[in-house]
Amino acid sequence: MSPEDFVMLLRKWMLDCGGMALVAGLLASVPVTADTIAVIGTGDVAGALGPEFAALGHTIVYGSRDPSRDKVRALVERTGNGASATTPAESVVGADIVVMAVPGTAVEAITNGLGDLSGKIIIDPTNAIDRSDDGYFKLVYDSSTAEIIQDAAPAAYVVKAFNTLNWRTMVDPDSSGGPVSIPLVGDSAEAKATVAELVEGMGLEAIDLGPLRYARHIEGMLLVWIHNRYGGGDGPAFDYHLRKEQ
Ligand SMILES: NC(=O)c1ccc[n+]([C@@H]2O[C@H](COP(=O)([O-])OP(=O)(O)OC[C@H]3O[C@@H](n4cnc5c(N)ncnc54)[C@H](OP(=O)(O)O)[C@@H]3O)[C@@H](O)[C@H]2O)c1
Repeated sequence: MSPEDFVMLLRKWMLDCGGMALVAGLLASVPVTADTIAVIGTGDVAGALGPEFAALGHTIVYGSRDPSRDKVRALVERTGNGASATTPAESVVGADIVVMAVPGTAVEAITNGLGDLSGKIIIDPTNAIDRSDDGYFKLVYDSSTAEIIQDAAPAAYVVKAFNTLNWRTMVDPDSSGGPVSIPLVGDSAEAKATVAELVEGMGLEAIDLGPLRYARHIEGMLLVWIHNRYGGGDGPAFDYHLRKEQ
């Protein structure tokens, strides 16, 4: 089955079963295409999302500060489907979608270094947290990393996604023991629909939680997650599931 056929089947299933009505409605207006996706960074999140998106039929171009190193070559090979790696600025040139799989505190400088991002969808999975004096974590920014990216690339369509779960759950949603919701916030309904399609293709649930100005609250979920994990002992894992009311 081709990736396009798979997505068509997915759409039909969602429309038939009546579940995920919001996302199904969003998907109904989006063309099914194989995109070129620039994944900036080659760490854990890049190594989870890049191969997942490639498996959905998309072509991945990693943007790395050092694309020639062995670790990056191995990631390109593992990703397959014509993946490649180059510099961050070159990776975005032919890309429809850009994934910022980079440290949250570096997003402004990295976005500024990517050149013209007009018309592209930017997926932002980043978090930026720091320790307060009392040991508890705090958000680094008064706004959000998503809004910092949007300000640096005003003609792009930023969608916050994938920042509320561990990379291992991204590649193996069943390991959480139940459905995992991926909150999406952004100001473009069409961009959110495209990202929802990627999310659903990975076996996760896309939930549209509103405009980009809500990104700070989505990023704030990490404070709960990370404190529960590291505040004492191992702590529980954190997966977000927005249950539909019966
Ligand atoms: N790890 C998770 O489970 C998880 C889950 C959800 C969200 N997040 C968020 O997603 C983002 C990426 O997380 P990650 O775990 O993939 O991080 P990571 O393993 O440290 O990878 C970050 C990548 O960013 C690139 N990079 C570009 N500029 C950089 C700089 N100035 N300093 C360091 N790296 C730079 C590096 O790739 P090159 O060396 O090839 O340039 C590096 O591999 C973070 O904002 C994190 O908070 C992480």
